[in-house]
Amino acid sequence: MTFFMNLDDYLSAHTTAESSLLQTLQRETYLRVLQPHMISGVVQGRLLAMLSKIIRPQYILEIGTFTGYAMLCLAEGLQPNGRLHTIEVNDELEEMIQKYIIKAGLEAQITLHLGQALHIIPTLPYTFDLVFIDADKLAYPQYYELALAKTRKGGSILIDNVLWKGKVLDLNTHKDKKTQALHAFNEMVTKDERVENVLLPLRDGLMWVIKKD
Ligand SMILES: C[S@@+](CC[C@H](N)C(=O)[O-])C[C@H]1O[C@@H](n2cnc3c(N)ncnc32)[C@H](O)[C@@H]1O
Repeated sequence: MTFFMNLDDYLSAHTTAESSLLQTLQRETYLRVLQPHMISGVVQGRLLAMLSKIIRPQYILEIGTFTGYAMLCLAEGLQPNGRLHTIEVNDELEEMIQKYIIKAGLEAQITLHLGQALHIIPTLPYTFDLVFIDADKLAYPQYYELALAKTRKGGSILIDNVLWKGKVLDLNTHKDKKTQALHAFNEMVTKDERVENVLLPLRDGLMWVIKKD
């Protein structure tokens, strides 16, 4: 028998399965929320969880919560007394995010901040070990600068969607603002002497940055 699988399905089939809670969250996102494809999903979610388990962060910052999938994955590596701060501008998502924080038993460890990330990040009095940037793409340079200032030396920043469905590879065809901005962002990070970085071709492109000592 011959059968065909697409790459995403093959990757999911050969990656540790998500928990039943994450499966429920993913299903509810696809049933109830607009643009459900924004969710990190199984493979990226497992990578975020595994990186967090290696880093064992005391403080995590997520910019762009959506329904909380990546938030729960990142929280898997938190130290027992660690804290995750996540920022979301869409207050219609609050009920669902809080519901899953409670279902995961993480009320004491996760704080949801509702509002504009650019206003909220400067008010957070923490030094982060791990940051995940996953909100509006045009503001990535500002999120990066604000996050880098609050990341400890040796700390990691992960930035999602930097390949923008591969459009950044052909800037002459894709002249839209977001493609051009994401390409400029990738160039800027790569030239930034304060960090080391690697662009992973996972899903929509995940940039991993480490702040140098
Ligand atoms: C790609 S989704 C995040 C997905 C989530 N991190 C995950 O992996 O499941 C982007 C989210 O960023 C939020 N967002 C967009 N602009 C924002 C802003 N200025 N401040 C805070 N959140 C913002 C959107 O409302 C959306 O929920």
